[in-house]
Amino acid sequence: MEEHSRLLSILGGIAMSIVGFQICRKVLPWIYANVLGPRLCGSSVNLAEMGEWAVVTGSTDGIGKAYARELARKGLKLVLISRSLEKLKTVAKEIGDEFGVEVRVIDVDFTGGMEIYEKIRTETAGLDVGVLVNNVGISYSHPEYFLDCYNADPKFLRNIVAANIHSVTHMTALFMPAMVQKRKGVIINLSSTAGVIPNPLLSVYSATKAFVNKFSDDLQTEYKTHGIIIQSVQPGFVATNMSKIRKPSVFAPSPETGRVR
Ligand SMILES: NC(=O)c1ccc[n+]([C@@H]2O[C@H](COP(=O)([O-])OP(=O)(O)OC[C@H]3O[C@@H](n4cnc5c(N)ncnc54)[C@H](OP(=O)(O)O)[C@@H]3O)[C@@H](O)[C@H]2O)c1
Repeated sequence: MEEHSRLLSILGGIAMSIVGFQICRKVLPWIYANVLGPRLCGSSVNLAEMGEWAVVTGSTDGIGKAYARELARKGLKLVLISRSLEKLKTVAKEIGDEFGVEVRVIDVDFTGGMEIYEKIRTETAGLDVGVLVNNVGISYSHPEYFLDCYNADPKFLRNIVAANIHSVTHMTALFMPAMVQKRKGVIINLSSTAGVIPNPLLSVYSATKAFVNKFSDDLQTEYKTHGIIIQSVQPGFVATNMSKIRKPSVFAPSPETGRVR
């Protein structure tokens, strides 16, 4: 009997060690990457050295606007791209006045077709773009079964793919050639935890974010030796219009909480 319970406690100890090891394996790198690393080492990337201009999509609200402000704080000139021209002009003035940098705006709806990218190409011609933030993204208004969602409005799911996937690939294709030529540049793609954890009832949105992760990872492998840094950012809930979370909390921080370092 005594031997039996000793064996059980040894097995229990082994099981606890395995669970503890697995938790440490996941948690410690996260703590280093998000808390200790940035505080102890800062960042080895000087964004302002990448080029004179930063381009941010979906930049009149939420996370995109927070990125735009932080990049302006670092002295980069901005090209803000969103849907509403009036909102763009207001945000451009606000950021330009506060940080004393030049801010240009381009109004496009990323659910459109290839004409969007021709317009952006024309209006950014000749700018030395060092940082591209592919932030624009749209999601469901509420969780929904795929077929119900599709039958209610098939175009809506197509729009999610256009805004969340096509924008990232075409914007990257637009600005990366000059970065590759000068052998420096940073591309920040907004993904989501939805792209890595099970997320039923938001299946198309989640799948677009999984695309962003995979695209970013493989592109980074392809272009690392060309001096290009590609990052896929995977936030959980953030208090923005998209999440409909009004009050920031520890579980849904405000977009301004995470600073670009
Ligand atoms: N909020 C979250 O909890 C969360 C979590 C994980 C990942 N994300 C990702 O983070 C990114 C930003 O999300 P957010 O929460 O900051 O969004 P948000 O607050 O809703 O802001 C969206 C921004 O994108 C613009 N926009 C929306 N649809 C557009 C379109 N079709 N064409 C052009 N511009 C458009 C909006 O411009 P207008 O004002 O002109 O419409 C606005 O500036 C998205 O990719 C999202 O998937 C968000």
